[in-house]
Amino acid sequence: MKGNFPVQEFERLTTPFYAYDIGLLGRTLQTINESAHEEFFCVEYAIKANHNPVLLKQISAAGLGADCVSGAEIKRAVECGFEPRKITYAGVGKRDDEIILGLEAGIGCFNVESLEEIEVISQIAAKMNLVAPIALRINPDIDAHTHHYITTGLAENKFGIAKEWLDLAVDKVLSLPALKLKGLHFHIGSQVLDNEPFGILCDRINEFQDHLESRGIKILSINVGGGLGIDYDHPDENPIPDFEGYFEMLRTRIKLRRGQSLHCELGRSVVAQCGSLISRVLYVKSGVNKKFLIVDAGMTDLIRPALYGAHHIIENITASNKEEDVETYDVVGPVCESSDVFGIDESLPVTHRGDLIALRSAGAYGEVMSSGYNLRSLYPSYYY
Ligand code: LLP
Repeated sequence: MKGNFPVQEFERLTTPFYAYDIGLLGRTLQTINESAHEEFFCVEYAIKANHNPVLLKQISAAGLGADCVSGAEIKRAVECGFEPRKITYAGVGKRDDEIILGLEAGIGCFNVESLEEIEVISQIAAKMNLVAPIALRINPDIDAHTHHYITTGLAENKFGIAKEWLDLAVDKVLSLPALKLKGLHFHIGSQVLDNEPFGILCDRINEFQDHLESRGIKILSINVGGGLGIDYDHPDENPIPDFEGYFEMLRTRIKLRRGQSLHCELGRSVVAQCGSLISRVLYVKSGVNKKFLIVDAGMTDLIRPALYGAHHIIENITASNKEEDVETYDVVGPVCESSDVFGIDESLPVTHRGDLIALRSAGAYGEVMSSGYNLRSLYPSYYY
C-alpha cells in the first residue's frame, strides 16, 4: 500500500477507473450523523454529486435522505434503499412523467422553482387524486463567492422564485387544494468555503419566517440546500469537511420554530474526498521547453478542470516514496481538445511510461459527469 491506495491491486486493473475509499465514506457519514444529531436535522444527500449504487446504499444505510433532480434519480434512490418520505425532488425543469413518478413513489417534497411549475404540479396531483407536498425555492440573492458556473443564489439566476414573489407563491400554493405547503427551500451555490454566506442565508431565512408569521402562515420545514465545500488542496490533511462547524452555525443562527425540521442537501462534502480517478501514464513526451505526461484519463472522465478550471491534486502512486528526483510536467489527457489538461507545471517524482497516477478528491461530480466523447469509456470502479 502506498498512502491509502492498494497500488498492487490497481496494477492488475485496466485504467482509467474510479477508486472509492469506502472506509472514508463511512467515517464521513458518521461525522455527519454525530454533528447533526438532533431530531430536527434532516440531512439529505444530493445524488447528483455521485449516483453510484455502492455509495448510495452506504449513504441510505446511514439514514440520510436523498435530494434528486430527475425521475431517474428518484428511481435510483428508491432502488438503493432511501425511504420515499425522505426523498426530495428539485430542479427547474421537471417533466410531467417525472412529476407523476415522484407522486406515485410518495416522495416527501417537491422543491418548486417557479409559479408556472406550481400550476403544473397542482394539475397533475389533482388528476391523480393526490396532494403534492411543496417547498418553494426562494432565491435569497446572496453571493456565495464561488465559481460563477456554480453560484446559484444571485438574483439573476435561472433558479428559484424571486424573493419579491414569496407572498405571491405562498398564496398560490395555499389556494390550490391538490398542494400542501411544507416549506421554504434555498441554495446559494456549491464549493462554498466560508461559513459566512450560509450565515447570511440564515439571517434572511429568519426575516422570511418573521414576515410569513406576521401573515399567520406557518411553515413546517426549512431547507438550506447544499454547498459546503471541501479542501481540494489537502485531501489527506482534511479528508472530512468541518460538518461540526457547519451544523453548529445552522443550529445557532436559524431561529427554528417549534416542531420545524431543518433540511440540508449535501453533495460534494459527502463523497468528494472518498473518490480518486486512477490513470496510467501512456507517454512521457518531451516538448521544446516542457515535459508532458500524457495519461489515459481525460476530460471525458473528469471534466471539472476543463469546465471550471478546477485543480485536483495529482499523485504518482507507482513511484516509490523514497524517490527523491523530482521533475516538472504538464499532465494532460488524450482527448483532442486543448482544455484536456489536468495540471500545468506539476512537480512530481520522475515519472515513467506505465506509472499509475491518482487524481484526488474526484468522488463528487467526477464519474457522474463523464461522457462518451471520442467513444471513450471508464472501466469498472474499485472499492477499498
Ligand atoms: N441542492 C441544490 C439545489 C443544488 O443545486 C446542488 C448542487 C446541491 C444541493 C448540492 O450541492 P453541493 O453540496 O454538492 O455543493 N458540477 C459542479 C457542481 C454543481 C453543483 C450543482 N448543484 C462541480 O463539479 O463543482
